Amino acid sequence: MIIKGATTVNGSGSLKADIRIRGEKIAEIAPDLVPDEGEEIIDAEGMLAIPGGIDAHTHFDMPCGDIMTSDDFYYGTRAAVAGGTTSIIDFSEPEQGTSLWNGLERWHEKADGRSFCDYGFHMTVSRYDEKLEDEIRGMTENGVTSFKAYTAYIGDLGVTDRDMYRILRLIKKYDGLLLIHCENGGILDERRDELGEKDPKNISNHPLSRPNEVEHDAVSRLIDMAKLLDTRVYIVHTSTEEALSEIEKAKKEGVKVFCETCPHYLLLTDDKYGEGGFEAAKYVCSPPFRKAKDNEALLIGIKEGIVDTISTDHCSFNFKGQKDLGKDDFRKIPNGIPGVENRVELMLTYSEKNGIPLNDTVRLLSENPAKIFGLYPKKGVLAKGSDADIVLVKKEAHSISAETQYQKVDYNPYEGTVVDYKVQHVFLRGHQIVKSGKVDEEKLLGQFLIRNTSVK
Ligand code: URP
Ligand code: ZN
Ligand code: ZN
Repeated sequence: MIIKGATTVNGSGSLKADIRIRGEKIAEIAPDLVPDEGEEIIDAEGMLAIPGGIDAHTHFDMPCGDIMTSDDFYYGTRAAVAGGTTSIIDFSEPEQGTSLWNGLERWHEKADGRSFCDYGFHMTVSRYDEKLEDEIRGMTENGVTSFKAYTAYIGDLGVTDRDMYRILRLIKKYDGLLLIHCENGGILDERRDELGEKDPKNISNHPLSRPNEVEHDAVSRLIDMAKLLDTRVYIVHTSTEEALSEIEKAKKEGVKVFCETCPHYLLLTDDKYGEGGFEAAKYVCSPPFRKAKDNEALLIGIKEGIVDTISTDHCSFNFKGQKDLGKDDFRKIPNGIPGVENRVELMLTYSEKNGIPLNDTVRLLSENPAKIFGLYPKKGVLAKGSDADIVLVKKEAHSISAETQYQKVDYNPYEGTVVDYKVQHVFLRGHQIVKSGKVDEEKLLGQFLIRNTSVK
């Protein structure tokens, strides 16, 4: 098969060239390829061909108290491919009191045979004991080379500073990478209860309970641990100017810290929490949306190369029947918003409007996550020998709407936002899984990604 006439865009540069696919791999990229007899041709004149998006932060089929996220692997990965993402890395969680093996088995049960895109797992670590070392080694031997810990959610997934330090030391020993949700759990729990007891129905209390300082404290602590242990850390969903400047300083000092942000911290602000009464529950996620000055700082962070990746933290809960569990108390609103379907189109549009070169955008959406999470050059680049994960995008303005989305959730936080790019055709390992914007639902071809530990 030949994809003809597109502008091929990689992190390193662009070229108007044809792409030949043989089996599941890219066989050749060159201008004016001559088709073999009978070879299928996809007309991509006027389109961009970008490497399949990699969303390194999703929560599919995730328990939250008595409920589950509305998107499981079937619906979540269907939305992912519709939006130009061909690999996701999801957070697997062991049940309380069990080993990491429980998390791995459970997540394979949820994902295997039910995924439209390729998928890997980051393993959540919420305890430290003498058995953990064997489990961490076991995970890395089974393709799970990254781990997740929380400084928030004390009493559930959160770990103490001492355990965080020990976990980080162990992960370093096995050349893994720790991702950290950075919010000081003690401070935020106290503020939440203080505010919640006085005025539980006021959703503006959500951002007030977890202000910028709460993120900054946890980020700077993690960076110091990374420094002391001379190891790498990956800060998920960076949302504030203060956290970003801490990361920038650390990078300049040579600390190996990776910085992720999400579209909602670039495009939305905390004004949403004071508008529309309980409708504001649609935007409750952690960290919360911030001020315009934080969005602007993150944009500068992208331009200066401080931000390494843009993932979604897709964690969808229906407004009716799930978010409304917190109707009388903002503390009971399940935290999280959807986004996996919209990331690529939103970020191509945002980048163009804000003067971010297209190649840099491709690096943030695909090449960097591939390198950081041990998938490069199989993924993250359009090159001879790489997986033929290819997204063809055309310039076409359209509005984001819950009514037309694949995500299985009853709203969209970007409702009405006009994006200037539209995903047309998507290939996963050479198989066309999206044709003219429609997912081929026969093609449940996603495979588990056995990842190594190489980083950029
Ligand atoms: O609000 C969010 N982000 N929910 C998902 C879990 C997490 O903290 O990443
Ligand atoms: Zn988080
Ligand atoms: Zn998350």
